[in-house]
Amino acid sequence: MTWLDFTSEEIRLFLDLSKQVKLERNEGKERFKGKTLALLFEKRSTRTRCAFETAFGEEGGHPVFLSTDDIQLGAKESLEDTARVLGRMFNAIQFRGFKQSTVKTLADYSGVPVYNGLTDLFHPTQALADIFTLEESFGNCQGKKLVFVGDGRNNVARSLLVICAKLGVNFTIISPPELTPDAELLNITNPIAKKSGADILVSADLGEVVGADAVYTDVWVSMGEETKRAERRALLSPYQVNQDLMDKTGRKDTIFLHCLPAIKGEEVTVDVIDGSQSRAWDQAENRKWTIKAIMLATLPE
Ligand code: CP
Ligand code: NVA
Repeated sequence: MTWLDFTSEEIRLFLDLSKQVKLERNEGKERFKGKTLALLFEKRSTRTRCAFETAFGEEGGHPVFLSTDDIQLGAKESLEDTARVLGRMFNAIQFRGFKQSTVKTLADYSGVPVYNGLTDLFHPTQALADIFTLEESFGNCQGKKLVFVGDGRNNVARSLLVICAKLGVNFTIISPPELTPDAELLNITNPIAKKSGADILVSADLGEVVGADAVYTDVWVSMGEETKRAERRALLSPYQVNQDLMDKTGRKDTIFLHCLPAIKGEEVTVDVIDGSQSRAWDQAENRKWTIKAIMLATLPE
């Protein structure tokens, strides 16, 4: 699943439901009672795992964490066979890992909803929490300006590109030319943006932060790309988000967003991420409410 599979109206419903879910956090409902969720992880996670586990468990559901280091998948059993078995025992599956195609194979062979908890290409549940957090500060996201600074071809930037195009959020990616999103995705999102009225801009010019409602960054080296650290540092050092860059927006109320985990002193300075403009910690909490809303809306009775 990516946000390309959903209409803007459906995404709006997820956002509205997230707001409701956050408001009724202490009501002790049991909307997942009797249900099971398989949490399949090829890559590490703190927020995504905890968001799924706590959101599902506190409403009476039974989440089961399955690291691919421990289960048969890929080692002694094909992905298709694992999917078939999980589909017999679980009401839904969350997958975090390398290939985007794994999400589809799991869905095709399990027959149950599969939530994409991050792949090399997309991080859709993150993008929903990001827009939700933007709306907590500025109201309806349509027409707001979100600027992503850093590795513009990574999973987080790509998912933001899709969700912004769908929802009419003006989205700017500022990155070195070597790290811009691929033309194939832009060719898909450009007509969507035209329809929603979103202004999409890809630029190497840090001056494009002017007027931003939110400045967003992510790590320079994503999981699975560890050999590229030196190369990325050389390319991205001029793109660090620091107070000078935040001030370049020309606004005092610009918020700072980061999906986390962060490498403080690399893609963002400590004063910015721990400072008054940062909403990174709300954003992390909002992973839980948005993920709960997604599950509530999509899990069959
Ligand atoms: N933002 C996010 O996905 O964090 P984790 O890697 O800790 O899940
Ligand atoms: N782009 C980062 C996001 C982590 C939540 C990664 O893939 O490692």
